[in-house]
Amino acid sequence: MNILLLGSGGREHALAWKLAQSRLIASEGGVLYAAPGNPGIAQYATLLSLDVTDHAAVIALCAEKGIGLVVIGPEAPLVDGLADSLRGEGIPVFGPSKAAAQLEGSKGFTKDLCERAGIPTAGYVRTKSLAEALEALGRFKPPYVLKADGLAAGKGVVIAEDLATAEEALADMFGGAFGEAGAEVVIEEFLTGEEASFFVLTDGASIMSIGSAQDHKRVGDGDTGPNTGGMGAYSPAPVLNAALRGEVISRIIAPTVKTMADEGTPYSGVLYAGLMLTPEGPKLIEYNCRFGDPECQVLMLRLDSDLGELLLACAENRLGTMEPAKLSPRKALTVVMAANGYPAEPEKGGAIRNIEAAEAGGAKVFHAGTTLDAEGNLVANGGRVLNVTALGDTVSEAQSAAYRAVTAIDFPTGFYRHDIGYREVAREAARERLG
Ligand code: AMP
Ligand code: GLY
Repeated sequence: MNILLLGSGGREHALAWKLAQSRLIASEGGVLYAAPGNPGIAQYATLLSLDVTDHAAVIALCAEKGIGLVVIGPEAPLVDGLADSLRGEGIPVFGPSKAAAQLEGSKGFTKDLCERAGIPTAGYVRTKSLAEALEALGRFKPPYVLKADGLAAGKGVVIAEDLATAEEALADMFGGAFGEAGAEVVIEEFLTGEEASFFVLTDGASIMSIGSAQDHKRVGDGDTGPNTGGMGAYSPAPVLNAALRGEVISRIIAPTVKTMADEGTPYSGVLYAGLMLTPEGPKLIEYNCRFGDPECQVLMLRLDSDLGELLLACAENRLGTMEPAKLSPRKALTVVMAANGYPAEPEKGGAIRNIEAAEAGGAKVFHAGTTLDAEGNLVANGGRVLNVTALGDTVSEAQSAAYRAVTAIDFPTGFYRHDIGYREVAREAARERLG
């Protein structure tokens, strides 16, 4: 079967790596295509150029290449309804419809769904004007959590320590700082606890868990500096123990999938739940309608099942007939190497060398933001540039293996955090001391 993968980041490189190993590609003579892809993805896939906002062009390409499954990596084409256009032509697609992608595309939509379905989440108010928002602030205590309703590339959340900062942030949001995404703002109760992410595949009826992860969003060591898309991650998240995972599925994921189906907008694809483990139990912070980036990279390293078969089963509404996904008991950890200046203004064009040397020790280096220059040399072409990923029997071992590989890479205009996984490494060390 021929598969078309859409996207160009480290998440898509990890998906391409795993899809290339699928029976559908590896032993049935299928071809993996990727658009636009990147030089890392090009090791396994034929790259195509394609404007994913032109649905007719995507459909025409699928016909031309005999595509039997389209895998949509990023959220924007999902929220834009690309999956609906493809399904309308009878092309199997992994990823939710436009209506279902509202779980990521509109924070207010998700909060209202949680309320209807009794799903634990922070108390909230949806506001549609600055006046309404300023008035609503009075019902909350600091710190104030303010969220632009729509997609804002991970930048639409402001946590304001005091009223003046919150009022200023609201004025910015309604003043257009996040464009259309900020035409509505959700104000939320501040939750305390540890954050963890949980991932399931679903075809709208069946649910299959594919692992948990924790990431590091701040740019600097010790969780300092501005927020980013994620500077590193590890899987599993041991804080999300079996009892908590059960609770997350029964109280958060299952009611979401059921409510979406009952309301005529079944959710099909990967559902990524961002959770806060509060003293009252796990609460939903947000949903994403795609794999996390870089969380996907650590999940794929641990996945011992055939990814192509699982994604196709979601697309064909027969996930319930599949064996549960096999996840390695080993731990995976990824370190993001970013270009100097990230997240504000990443420097482009910096040379990258020695990836093969880094991989020789067993690590896997996923390309997140790379390209080839005119001479065919690999150079940086984005904020997050490489995801250096390794497995270990413990998070501490995976961390050592990933950093050994990081130091083998020659990327003089890049930087990385030195402490990815530190909480878990400390917990492992504490357990070790207790014997
Ligand atoms: P989001 O883009 O919704 O994932 O939010 C970004 C980050 O803001 C989350 O990862 C949390 O660290 C934080 N956050 C979001 N909502 C809340 C909340 N209600 N209480 C505390 N922290 C939050
Ligand atoms: N790493 C966070 C995300 O993919 O949204």
